[in-house]
Amino acid sequence: MSDRFTITVNDTHEVSAEPGLPILDSLRNAGFTMRFSCRNGVCEICKTTLLAGSIRQRYPELALQLEAGQPSSQIFACTAVPCSDIQVRIKGLLRPGEIQVKELVCDIASVEQLNEEVYRVRLHLPVTGRQATEFHAGQYLELILPDERRAAFSIGSAPDFSSDIELHIRCTPEGELSVAIMDHLKNSPSVKIELPKGECYLEASQLASDKVIVLAAASTGFSQIKSIAEHLLANQVSNPIHIYWGARVEADFYLEKLPLQWASEHTNVHVHLVVSEPGNSPGWSGRSALLPDAIVADFDHFENVEIFTSGSPGMVYALLDACELKGLNEVQMHADVFAYAPRK
Ligand code: FES
Repeated sequence: MSDRFTITVNDTHEVSAEPGLPILDSLRNAGFTMRFSCRNGVCEICKTTLLAGSIRQRYPELALQLEAGQPSSQIFACTAVPCSDIQVRIKGLLRPGEIQVKELVCDIASVEQLNEEVYRVRLHLPVTGRQATEFHAGQYLELILPDERRAAFSIGSAPDFSSDIELHIRCTPEGELSVAIMDHLKNSPSVKIELPKGECYLEASQLASDKVIVLAAASTGFSQIKSIAEHLLANQVSNPIHIYWGARVEADFYLEKLPLQWASEHTNVHVHLVVSEPGNSPGWSGRSALLPDAIVADFDHFENVEIFTSGSPGMVYALLDACELKGLNEVQMHADVFAYAPRK
């Protein structure tokens, strides 16, 4: 009989238990992160709830066999070894690649107006935060006002240069929350944030060399795309990178010289600025189209393409539908919209 059992954690993850090893070691070897210290059953930091299955614990000495439905029992992951398939619950467990969400107070380093409505805000992470905070390229943060109102913004800088965090904030007179946020950022020395959040991110180290990357942004969605692009360039990936940035009119673009500079310096980077209302863009000689139409027109098929996109739900789902007609599978497209505005 095999002595390799399965550890089911928090009802969602299944990890193979390595023979004779405590639960803590099997989880860590599988890339999970959890709190531990003494590794001897003394400090109690690794307290784990056993829901079902049998374990033998070295210290404090304990042998337990729980059937599903029996009352749970507290054990220590550092000294408890599975003797069968087991189910456990562990608070604060982070799956591989997951980064702990933190609340931090940051200095507001600068506020710069980029066009009529968009501001670039640089936040300086506190020293302790800078050491401990990480995020993945493409994730977002929540900015928390003193009255506890919150707003989510994509992080517009790459984690590879993380001493400052950059945000692109659109502020319009009719947007009450955006006005309150900009008022705070312009007139206060610091702001509270919570990060990192979001599942639409890319890690250069996990990127297969044969993938074609499409980064598609509408309006200030460029912030998220900028973070991913700068991360890929910082890690010198050679995959083809196609950046599409759509705006209603030319005046809505900002920092547009930056992606054009990436394209001039890297032969694998291709940039497409697309305006959807050329009649309202005097002097615009560039490409005119709806963003999804422009992207679909440029590809015969979407095999081996991964799309990261940031924009309104309407734009994202229009792009998904159009790309699926040319062979894209939904799993090849990544967008925060899928989490906050799922299609029924
Ligand atoms: S790490 Fe101290 S009791 Fe498990």
